[in-house]
Amino acid sequence: MKGSKVLLVVVVLAMLAALIGCAAPAPAPAAAPASGDQPAPAAAPAEQAKKTYKDLVVGYAQLGAESEWRTANTASVKEAAQELGVTLKFSDAQQKQENQIKAIRSFIAQKVDVIGVPPVVETGWETVFKEAKDAGIPIILVDRRADVPEDLYVTYLGSDFVEEGRKAALEMNKLLPDGGKIVELVGTVGSAPANDRAKGFREKLNPNIEIIDSQSGDFTRAKGKEVMEAFMKKYGKDIGAVYAHNDDMALGAIQSIEEYGLKPGSDVKIVSIDAVRGAFQAMVDGKLNVTVECNPLLGPQFYDLALKVVNGESVPKWIPSEESVYYPDNAAEVLPTRKY
Ligand code: AHR
Repeated sequence: MKGSKVLLVVVVLAMLAALIGCAAPAPAPAAAPASGDQPAPAAAPAEQAKKTYKDLVVGYAQLGAESEWRTANTASVKEAAQELGVTLKFSDAQQKQENQIKAIRSFIAQKVDVIGVPPVVETGWETVFKEAKDAGIPIILVDRRADVPEDLYVTYLGSDFVEEGRKAALEMNKLLPDGGKIVELVGTVGSAPANDRAKGFREKLNPNIEIIDSQSGDFTRAKGKEVMEAFMKKYGKDIGAVYAHNDDMALGAIQSIEEYGLKPGSDVKIVSIDAVRGAFQAMVDGKLNVTVECNPLLGPQFYDLALKVVNGESVPKWIPSEESVYYPDNAAEVLPTRKY
């Protein structure tokens, strides 16, 4: 009896061993040598897949809608995103820095790939740009610079505003060869274009031309008109010319000069910046003497840069825009071809 129990245990164990042997995976066959007796090379590490426009999620913290220029800039950013298939998160800060900062923080929370921002003023950006950097989200400055250390943004895409101011002064010198008194309509106080256009203009203005007054019109037509109205009341026919930091303020000033009873473009010369369609029409009408171009159509270049940056390609620290100067003599011919 005892012997038969032992036999049973032995048989059961033998059957279990056979079952386990069947379930065990077959040993892998030895890898065939690649050539001759050499062992096969280790597989190359998989290359990180490059992102395409369709993978890209971008936040654009637009500063506002204060001018024809800005409207064109917004349209360019939105249209290019649609054409390329980029996912765009867009916000309009209504000319307020705190709103732009809020928008940037919300883009960080949404973990976008890149943030584009035209800073409404130059200072006060370090904290929020550092937050973006800490979150690993690159900042691209579009249109306007910010006064921050260079490691807080990857690149600046936009104009040389100082050079625009210089060009405007050279045109003013031609319009007032015997000198005279002029007034200046300044852009948004503390903004890069207002600071730089004032600086460049003073660098090249002839010493026989005196800037008798200088006030901000905040880059808007309504404010430009209001400030010019006050200038006309105060200085009247003493004003030989106006230097406006953008076309919208120049267009507002044109209305005030006419309401005062003088002819803009002849009694009072006007030099402005942007080269928007409204300025071309004013030149066709003989009411504006010169406009210095500032290009707002930055959308396609912005996404090109954004894609390069997320794919780890190096980009220059500044991509300057190419810009011209336009005059009344060919304004009628150029106007139909203007995109903004
Ligand atoms: O930053 C560009 C400037 O901003 C444009 O010259 C002006 O029209 C706009 O508001």
